[in-house]
Amino acid sequence: MLFETIRRDAHCVTILDQTILPLAWQNAQITTLEQMAQAIRSMQVRGAPLIGASAAYGLALGLLEDTSDTALTQYLATLESTRPTAVNLHWALARMDAFLRPLPVSARSEAAWQEADRIREADIAANHAIGKYGLSLIKALTAKHGGPIQAMTHCNAGALATCGWGTALAPIYLAHEAGIPIHVWVSETRPRNQGLLTAAELTANEVPHTLMADNAAGFLLQEGRVDMVIVGADRIAANGDTANKVGTYLKALAAHAAGVPFYVAAPWSTIDLATPNGRAIPIEERNGNELRHATGKLADGSTAQVACIDAAETVFNPAFDVTPAELITGIITERGVFAPHQLTSH
Ligand code: MRU
Repeated sequence: MLFETIRRDAHCVTILDQTILPLAWQNAQITTLEQMAQAIRSMQVRGAPLIGASAAYGLALGLLEDTSDTALTQYLATLESTRPTAVNLHWALARMDAFLRPLPVSARSEAAWQEADRIREADIAANHAIGKYGLSLIKALTAKHGGPIQAMTHCNAGALATCGWGTALAPIYLAHEAGIPIHVWVSETRPRNQGLLTAAELTANEVPHTLMADNAAGFLLQEGRVDMVIVGADRIAANGDTANKVGTYLKALAAHAAGVPFYVAAPWSTIDLATPNGRAIPIEERNGNELRHATGKLADGSTAQVACIDAAETVFNPAFDVTPAELITGIITERGVFAPHQLTSH
């Protein structure tokens, strides 16, 4: 748990600003609900579990101003509208609402901070349990193939995407800690380059890894140079269809064609039994400037954004895609590892 992605001190929240990572590691102070809503929209905080905890703290910030029923409803609506796909956001807000609304208005503010703390702590514990279940799978693969295990991931489903440990990276950290040789193929994850965050995390934790272009994944799988694919999730529908960062589906297809196991690692809060299948998952479409621009470090050490193409260029920028359940070998949760069709019975 090398990174502190979110922390609260009394009635103020400190976040690690992920819009400038890994070029610069800077915290930002969040003191109002609107600032937290903007931090979620702009992806200063990102990753489904971290977005959930951030929204919970955002609500606590709002309730410092007004704890009435009307305010509670309005604050929930503001936070709900920040990002549509990661269900942890909606899960955390529903949990906060259910806990706070029956309380007297005078008790709501302090209770909100405490409940947000519990959501944060539960996420850290869930990720550690996911790590242990995933570790058993890595051990089994090591026994079958010998080491080092070649794991491929996509996006960032590490400590930076959660309140600690990560989901897809937790088993990798535990394997590394246990002395099991493991190497991670990290895809860049255009356009927001969350793979660079994964590379930075793995570097900081001294886990062997190699960064590659997103388009290299099929080639590596076809060449037999990958033993397992492990990714996070933003929403898992009742039938096991899984929304995750755009590009995940292509990796699942290539893994299936190569006969390589494809695992999704996610806390139970990412499972949305009210959504029957992947077609019902709302897919966020983000601003085209994410593709038109690139951010980097200049020779003087400062960061800068540059245009890669004319501002008038038409762009399609879906942030997520859906991997059908039949391409998923197993879903690793804090309750155990399940086949996609087993979710409704747990
Ligand atoms: O758009 P992002 O960066 O919030 O998307 C993050 C992902 O897609 C992650 O893979 C997912 O949230 C799992 S995080 C443990």
